[in-house]
Amino acid sequence: MNMKRRAFIGTLSAAGLGQALAQTTQSPVTSSPNHLLRTPLTIMAPRADGFEAVWAVSRLSLGRIEWESDDGTTGSAGADTFGFVPQGEDILRVRVAGLSPGKNYRVRSVTRAADNDETQVSAWKTFRTLDPTAHRTHFTMWNDTHIHNDTIRALHQVTPAADFLLWNGDTCNDWTRDELLVPTLLHPGECDITERAPLFITWGNHDVRGAHAFKTPRLIATPTGRPFYAFRSGPVAVICLHTGEDKPDSHPSFRGRVAFDTLRAEQAQWLRETIQRPELRDAPYRVVFCHIPLRWRDEQPPNYDKGGFDHFSARSRAAWHETLVKWRAQIILSGHTHRDAWLPPTSEFPYGQLIGGGPQKERATWTEGVADTEQLRIKVINLEGKVLRDVTFKPLA
Ligand SMILES: [Fe+2]
Repeated sequence: MNMKRRAFIGTLSAAGLGQALAQTTQSPVTSSPNHLLRTPLTIMAPRADGFEAVWAVSRLSLGRIEWESDDGTTGSAGADTFGFVPQGEDILRVRVAGLSPGKNYRVRSVTRAADNDETQVSAWKTFRTLDPTAHRTHFTMWNDTHIHNDTIRALHQVTPAADFLLWNGDTCNDWTRDELLVPTLLHPGECDITERAPLFITWGNHDVRGAHAFKTPRLIATPTGRPFYAFRSGPVAVICLHTGEDKPDSHPSFRGRVAFDTLRAEQAQWLRETIQRPELRDAPYRVVFCHIPLRWRDEQPPNYDKGGFDHFSARSRAAWHETLVKWRAQIILSGHTHRDAWLPPTSEFPYGQLIGGGPQKERATWTEGVADTEQLRIKVINLEGKVLRDVTFKPLA
């Protein structure tokens, strides 16, 4: 195990913990087959008042999060919703609340083994809470990485710091083995992908496929604890939706494991209520993220019996279109087709449909959105730095 790979952790004995907690520098790195920490501290589901931390451990452990801000305030979070200190045999999760909007924090995890009190403290990492009242926001999106680790490493290298990174589905191929979950979601390409931006994830059709897919909610935190959620970042209101599978729930390849018609209907009801929330209803810019597009160039129904699948989610659109039009959604950001595309708004579909690229390095893209008082500008950029799509929106009156 090389040093670089383990740069996210420090090791110390229980006796040395107090001293380490007073330090703000990264602890020295050592390698050991019994290392408690298996992944970097992953900062997910940022909010105006906090975030959720997720990391993987090698044996039954207890965890907490410590934070400090530029103004000298400090705190820690170490309680779950049932009054336990967060514990787990493989995954630890800590929800942090009580922070201030639009503020910089340093955060780290403290993990203690249940069997022998061995304690490991992660390196500090920086985090900025969302700011719903800011005049500007900057976000990035990845999609369809499908465990192409060379692509993930290249994306990680070029994707700049932002208010959030949204990984818009198909993180994996299929969850055929339990062992795929931790490295794919919490240490993809052996990168600390929340080093420069906190992470939102939406579920793609491959993220719900395979016998172990039902375990993904244990590793993926969202603001609501559900796979659909909404938030405001500066002038942009964001709604994230789960488009489910790309074939009917009854398709034999799913072996009776999925029930997305039910989830789409629930999201339809939630959407009708959610667009009434003032921070979404009155936002200058309105953006939707969902893995499978809601529009496509060729909308002929697929023949599922002959290997066909949905290039766009007709089921999702039927459930949500009316409400998205009522909300005045400006753009749907998706993946799924593995080739970038832009379908401009029309009279029938007042929202544009932007799609990122595919998993191979030559097809991969990252998408960047910048919004201020003048415009929302969204670009799709490939790994050579070429801008493939560049669209702008004026603020809604
Ligand atoms: Fe995909």
